[in-house]
Amino acid sequence: MAPFLPFQIRPLEVADLNRLLGVFRDAIQVGSAGEYDQQQRDAWSRGQNYDSLISLLSEGETVVAQWDDELVGFAQRIADNINMVYVHPDSARVGIATLLYQHLEDSARVEGIPSLTTHASLTALEFFRFMGFDSEGEEQADRGGVNLKRHLMRKSLGNFQ
Ligand SMILES: CC(C)(COP(=O)(O)OP(=O)(O)OC[C@H]1O[C@@H](n2cnc3c(N)ncnc32)[C@H](O)[C@@H]1OP(=O)(O)O)[C@@H](O)C(=O)NCCC(=O)NCCS
Repeated sequence: MAPFLPFQIRPLEVADLNRLLGVFRDAIQVGSAGEYDQQQRDAWSRGQNYDSLISLLSEGETVVAQWDDELVGFAQRIADNINMVYVHPDSARVGIATLLYQHLEDSARVEGIPSLTTHASLTALEFFRFMGFDSEGEEQADRGGVNLKRHLMRKSLGNFQ
């Protein structure tokens, strides 16, 4: 944790889950409005509810970003996959996703994981490029019969054992 930053990165707590669902939905509905239409955003955001998030977040490692008393972002890594990175649009472009991601990359390096993958939304494509990922091609994600374009991306961590 860096004390000079206005926010802190910390592990997920059960009490975070309600706010985390709000961050997830607002990040999609507002943050991704430039890349996906309303039908796509609704289908994506309906993909998780409170119960499914509890189940999903029981896997892997999840970190959250807290700004004052407010949860403003979260990210999850399951093994070698960055499964989720969501930052509330009111707190975008101040480096929160960067810090969340760096935490997960650091722990992957400690585990000796040689490379990380992610299925990046079009909204997150430039963010992951900035983090050193390369696109391995476009994919279509099916969310309840609605297609969303995304990219399979990979970053080598140089941990070859
Ligand atoms: C993608 C997302 C997580 C980025 O969060 P963020 O906290 O705003 O990202 P950061 O501030 O750490 O950005 C770091 C760098 O990534 C790049 N970047 C981030 N968002 C970008 C965007 N929308 N367009 C272009 N470049 C972007 C920039 O280089 C940025 O540095 P800069 O602000 O100095 O130019 C956030 O926009 C989000 O939650 N989007 C909607 C949900 C989503 O698509 N999640 C990913 C699912 S795979």
